[in-house]
Amino acid sequence: MIPINKPSTDEAEIQAVMEVMRKGPVTNALGMGPKVLEFEKLFAEFAGVKHAVAVNTGTAALQAAVMAAGVKRDEEVIVPSFTFVATAEAVVLAGAKPVFADIDPKTYTLSPEAVEKTITKKTRAMLPVDLYGFSADMKPLREIADKYGLALISDDAQAHGATYAGKPAGKYADSACWSLYASKNIMTGEGGVVTTDSDELDDKLRMIRNHGEKIKYASEMLGSNLRMPELEAAIGIVQLKKLPGFVAKRRENAEQLTKILSESKKLILPYETPERKHSWYLYTARQVDATEAKRNKLLDDLKAKGIGAEAYYVHPINTMPYYRSNFGAKLLPETEKAAEQVFSLPVHPGVTKDEAALIGETVLGLL
Ligand SMILES: Cc1ncc(COP(=O)(O)O)c(C=O)c1O
Repeated sequence: MIPINKPSTDEAEIQAVMEVMRKGPVTNALGMGPKVLEFEKLFAEFAGVKHAVAVNTGTAALQAAVMAAGVKRDEEVIVPSFTFVATAEAVVLAGAKPVFADIDPKTYTLSPEAVEKTITKKTRAMLPVDLYGFSADMKPLREIADKYGLALISDDAQAHGATYAGKPAGKYADSACWSLYASKNIMTGEGGVVTTDSDELDDKLRMIRNHGEKIKYASEMLGSNLRMPELEAAIGIVQLKKLPGFVAKRRENAEQLTKILSESKKLILPYETPERKHSWYLYTARQVDATEAKRNKLLDDLKAKGIGAEAYYVHPINTMPYYRSNFGAKLLPETEKAAEQVFSLPVHPGVTKDEAALIGETVLGLL
């Protein structure tokens, strides 16, 4: 089976872990060991910002960013429903209320028009997602955030290597949240990072990561233990250096798929524009004539032929039992339609040129 995603590692990551195991420390009580600090410096450079704060998951990065934005209990954060559950979960974990808004059907990212219609007196922040590795439309979202005095936090869990208006994804947001989970463009097993240009947010994020402390046993604000261990930071340093090569290979595979799949009239394919470059975390196509059952049959048939195609995300968050019962039902037509018709194909760096061709031809044959 060609899996939908797979970590790309070699001897360099193993050596990096061994070095930490031999020399230590394996972690640091304030979350700022030498490997974490080195990784943060490199990550801030990569993201084109002043600060990077390493944490232990992408979910923790989102939760810390919402807390650092000063969102209070019962205040609202506008989020898409067409995303991984962690985007909304982090808002709830930070004590606030997620309010779902619909997506733009072409990019599957939060629609600026839908966001503006969703703003109430309680809205405090918005949290667009750079879904599949394609940036949300950050300029209009930034304008709306500034007009209404909202915090703009971006979920860049899938967007390592993506750009918007020539700048790394997340740059237009007040803070951007990255995942280093094993499936991502770069990974540390589990891990996350928050990036920001703001000194004030950086200061708060560092406290939130470590029980609200600057000095041990003297909490200044509510925090938790969100620290990244040194072992993971050591892997992250190696992975980050390989990221440009990883993204180039993903793009090559994506371009080959597009060349083959363009023959089909039944698909809308992912694309790039001069303004927005993909990270190609997922190559997601849309079967325009499909019902959910038809799309699911395509996934089953692809799996039967050894191709690990998947659909992200089949259940919009607002339809999930916990979210529906706590935050109410909401009609999001574009989200619902996309959830029934999209499917993603493997383009990770482990997919060879021949395999990418086979994936494309197999999809064409099944359609
Ligand atoms: C869009 C999105 N947001 C948040 C997360 C959460 O990241 P993590 O799994 O590292 O907690 C993920 C990945 O799993 C994701 O894909």
